[in-house]
Amino acid sequence: MTDVLVIGGGIIGLSTAIALSQKGANVTIVERDLCGHAATWAAAGMLAPEAERLSGDLLDFGIRSREMYPQWIANLMRLSGQDCGYWCCGMLAPVLEESDRQVISGHPKYISREESHQRLSGLGQSILGSLWLPEDGQVNNRKLTQALLTAARSLSIKILEGTTVYQIGRDRSRVTHLDTSAGKLQSDRYVLATGAWTRSLMPLPIKPIKGQMLSVFDADRKLQKVIYAPSCYIVPRQDGTIVIGATVEDNGFAQGNTAAGIAQLLNRAISIYPAIADMPIIETWWGFRPHAPNEIPLLGASDHENLVLATGHYRNGILFAPITAKLITDFIVDGISLAFFNDV
Ligand code: FAD
Ligand code: GLY
Repeated sequence: MTDVLVIGGGIIGLSTAIALSQKGANVTIVERDLCGHAATWAAAGMLAPEAERLSGDLLDFGIRSREMYPQWIANLMRLSGQDCGYWCCGMLAPVLEESDRQVISGHPKYISREESHQRLSGLGQSILGSLWLPEDGQVNNRKLTQALLTAARSLSIKILEGTTVYQIGRDRSRVTHLDTSAGKLQSDRYVLATGAWTRSLMPLPIKPIKGQMLSVFDADRKLQKVIYAPSCYIVPRQDGTIVIGATVEDNGFAQGNTAAGIAQLLNRAISIYPAIADMPIIETWWGFRPHAPNEIPLLGASDHENLVLATGHYRNGILFAPITAKLITDFIVDGISLAFFNDV
């Protein structure tokens, strides 16, 4: 018997497994396809509670998680020996419509058009003003995934890669076992971290919201800050790659990039940062965000006493990973109930 079986090896499953293991639990992760179209692999890696305009408890949650990032990354780097591309580069969030400019011009972090151009040279002429957000930053989510996997293995967490959970066996109050492509699996506790696919295993209100992305290469590496504009963000990595995202599409698990999706992103990106027009395209891809009601994750207790929910992180699961891992671990290991959750 394993102490905890984590279903799903995206950032939420992996980081929760690591936190549980570091508190002494014996953990197994079941994951069917690590580099499929899981949101963790597809994301831009922005750590952006402010640029994403979170509000209320969700903003506090995001800021707390952003504050946890330096130590969380240090722990992962110590365990894995790998760099995660964590970069407190700051973000400029331009406004492109006069009505938006009027709304945010009273914000304490608002800067004028002129100051926006001074802080970030090469901006397009369509920018009317911006929010300057020095504490928002980024992590390279693909490097981070590799580091999480290495860290998990260093802690002897068992990762059943290529294994699909078909069904969660349960009686009235408890999960009894998992039916999987590797046979029946049993454990004391289970964590459901299946992202956008959660509904295939449990009747929970999670749906996929597709995001298309692309990347270009900036040989000059002049762009050193994230630009987060309405309907388009531009995320420069330290190696010269620039990630551009993302569409927001509510059409189930429709696969593939579309010409319209990529054209929309490129047109926006070039108008905001014109130098992109001459940069070579490296890659296009897509992924599925796990959307929950009110855009608030489903965390903690479920209808089954030994099944814990860790899903529905929608647009901010990379940001929310450290705090999610800590809260779920505190809940499972120390019985500390979650003060923040989506009561659906
Ligand atoms: P996932 O990463 O989707 O992982 C779930 C895993 O569960 C998958 O690997 C899947 O294979 C596995 N699984 C599912 N069902 C089963 C089953 N039955 N059996 C076995 N395995 C199963 N967040 C940010 O914070 N910053 C960003 O900049 C950002 N940008 C984004 C851009 C895009 C285009 C997208 C799509 C998302 C973005 N996000 C961002 C959101 C973030 O990526 C997600 O919230 C986060 O990755 C969710 O992690 P997860 O582990 O819950 O889900
Ligand atoms: N957080 C960026 C996105 O979901 O596209």
